[in-house]
Amino acid sequence: MLESSASKGSEKSMWSRVRRWCPGVLVLFVFIGTLTLKPSSPNLWGYVHYLRTTALSAKYSNDSGNMSPGVLPVLQHFIAPYPHSYHFILDEPDRCQQQKPFLVLMVPVAPQNKEARDAIRSTWGKETTIMGKVVSVYFLLGQGKEGHGTEEQVLQESQEHHDLLQSDFVDSYMNLTIKTMVMFEWLTSRCSNAGFAMKIDSDMFLNVHQLMELLLKAPNQLYITGLVVRGAFALRDPNSKWFMPVEVFPDVQYPPYLLGMGYVFSLDLPKKIIEVSAHVKAVYIEDVYVGLCLRYSGIQPTDPPSGYLFKAALPHYLSNCYWTSVITTILDSPKQLLYSWETYQTQKNGC
Ligand SMILES: *[C@@H]1O[C@H](CO)[C@@H](O)[C@H](O)[C@H]1NC(C)=O
Ligand SMILES: *[C@@H]1O[C@H](CO)[C@@H](O)[C@H](O)[C@H]1NC(C)=O
Repeated sequence: MLESSASKGSEKSMWSRVRRWCPGVLVLFVFIGTLTLKPSSPNLWGYVHYLRTTALSAKYSNDSGNMSPGVLPVLQHFIAPYPHSYHFILDEPDRCQQQKPFLVLMVPVAPQNKEARDAIRSTWGKETTIMGKVVSVYFLLGQGKEGHGTEEQVLQESQEHHDLLQSDFVDSYMNLTIKTMVMFEWLTSRCSNAGFAMKIDSDMFLNVHQLMELLLKAPNQLYITGLVVRGAFALRDPNSKWFMPVEVFPDVQYPPYLLGMGYVFSLDLPKKIIEVSAHVKAVYIEDVYVGLCLRYSGIQPTDPPSGYLFKAALPHYLSNCYWTSVITTILDSPKQLLYSWETYQTQKNGC
């Protein structure tokens, strides 16, 4: 190509400068892109899922002994004994029919973890009417291991608060899928007149007002929302807390599912999930299992209207109105819930 004029000359030097900068700019863009786009990338969700399960299984650490390195995993451990007819030892058979809640909060918690239940009862659990709508909280328990001596205490607590549902399976990390399915069964048989239910872990902050704002605009059928995980990989390393044997789940990736920390659904969903559960192998990772049942039913999870509502972790920097703007955030301890609830009360006035 011929360069004939002076103006072309200056153009040329400009272009060569651009060309020189290009790789750098490109690298910068890719870098920024990686940072900003990460939340929707499969790897990050895999990571969030990883952190979540690590935290959960640490709480139930003594249950996962069968997964310690070097021990050959038994396939049956990764499949929950479900469907199976479990029975309620403690129940509140009429409470839901009497109170007619718009929203039911279902909290899976270990029998011995009264501290978490009390923290919830004195924070978001006491918000029983919001915008004129009734909200009820129930705690879901399995059976404590023998020798833990929780039966007597749990019975007393039930008589005092009338908010415990206890079923007769062994309460353990590897049995969380059973707990979730028993929750769906209870909602179908005892509470199908409610509008929505939320499955929420006991270590969560919950802003019930924000949740209500969301639900008042939400579809009331075949609806489920929360933090949607897309493209997470099944982990094949037997040492992983989340190990998933290929024999139990042969696909490379899980279908979209709602992160188990907290998901909200319309009350027509539990019946559908129970119906299809007979056809879907009950993997032990409870939120993945609900995702598998949703896929089988052809129900798509809905993303929340904003990415700031369901938070998997507390951000390093908390804005002045953080607690009034989120719906959920995972916390470290019941004490942190009491503390963040206090902060939330003060923020309510100014935000
Ligand atoms: C787990 O087991 C260890 C040792 O066997 C024991 O010291 C610890 O208290 C147990 N933790 C729980 C949560 O039961
Ligand atoms: C899960 O619950 C069933 C029924 O109670 C029990 O037989 C099984 O041992 C439990 N599994 C674990 C890992 O706790």
